[in-house]
Amino acid sequence: TDSTLIAILPGDGIGPEVTREARRVLEALDLGLRFEEAPVGGAAYRTSGHPLPPETLALADRAAAVLFGAVGDPAFDSLERALRPEQAILGIRKHLGTFANLRPARIFPGLEDASTLKPEVARAIDLVIVRELNGDVYFGAKGRGTTPAGKREGHDLMRYDEDEVRRIARVGFETAAKRRGKLCSVDKANVLETSQLWRDVVMEVAVDYPQVELTHMYVDNAAMQLVRNPGAFDTIVTGNLFGDILSDQASMCVGSIGMLPSAALDGAGKGLYEPIHGSAPDIAGQGKANPCAAILSAAMLLRHSLGQDAAADRVEAAVAAALGRELRTPDMGGDATTAAMGEAVLAGL
Ligand code: NAD
Ligand code: IPM
Ligand code: MN
Repeated sequence: TDSTLIAILPGDGIGPEVTREARRVLEALDLGLRFEEAPVGGAAYRTSGHPLPPETLALADRAAAVLFGAVGDPAFDSLERALRPEQAILGIRKHLGTFANLRPARIFPGLEDASTLKPEVARAIDLVIVRELNGDVYFGAKGRGTTPAGKREGHDLMRYDEDEVRRIARVGFETAAKRRGKLCSVDKANVLETSQLWRDVVMEVAVDYPQVELTHMYVDNAAMQLVRNPGAFDTIVTGNLFGDILSDQASMCVGSIGMLPSAALDGAGKGLYEPIHGSAPDIAGQGKANPCAAILSAAMLLRHSLGQDAAADRVEAAVAAALGRELRTPDMGGDATTAAMGEAVLAGL
């Protein structure tokens, strides 16, 4: 891989709008990085007939890290599943082996009023969801058909093996150890065998991390606690599906889905960085998208793949400063455009 090459995969809807601002921020840092873009998702399907063309994967392989926008386009929702835009993000995560997804949710000063929670509840949020990304019901056997009685049916197998649980549990403990030392494992062990295995393995791994305080919580309760008292969470480790759902919820707790970045890591330095939100077809092309999640994803790229911690700190501080000047895109209750928000972050650098 080329240690100065960043792959930019803008994708669909607001993906290109928000990655443009994130790229400008990376460029402004003058770190000697080079950028190459490739199509992905519906945009790639349109030009090449496939949502994840081999050239796009090859670029991701060559690059030090990948900055991803979003994929998804209602025009393609009725295609066979293998050709839908969403397969691109699932496929590239699998291809790169990026099994550990860090989704930090913290409140930026001044954004309490954008949260739907009471300000004093929102103010306390500083958590990270460690989401397993390459297994679970997403990747188990699936199918649709007809029962012997002639009813339509569908199924998706939820499964994990112990190695998959062990490696994400380790990321959870390592993450908690570097934070406030509290790890909450979220599962549904009262009903699901997959979750019982998950819980057993997490408890085995806990032996190696006596400094971390481990608790277990059922996912339904976790969803409730996340709006009751989110400040009580430090690090959450959970499976692919539960992590997907809880992270959208956590994003609104800190003001907007447009604020949550993510890092998908392979454990060896390669990473794919993307906002947790989707292509937002309802606002695409209108300059309304909040680019902060994409910009903060670029900061995570600097930190986790390039070892540029100081530059990452600068980007995060610039986002905080821009928000501190009361600049808000519509999702946060303001009327700033995507470009104006990006400009403000650049100015803060
Ligand atoms: P979404 O996250 O795209 O949008 C949900 C709501 O949040 C919409 O009202 C949207 O306008 C708003 N929103 C999202 N990001 C925003 C931003 N940066 N600034 C302001 N508002 C924002 O979720 P959806 O509507 O359920 O899905 C739309 C498409 O995106 C679907 O095709 C879905 O499969 C896809 N999707 C892709 C990813 C990804 O690429 N990683 C993630 C989630 C959804
Ligand atoms: C996300 C998205 C994806 C996921 C979809 C688009 C496959 O919702 O990144 O959160 O479920 O992982
Ligand atoms: Mn999601």
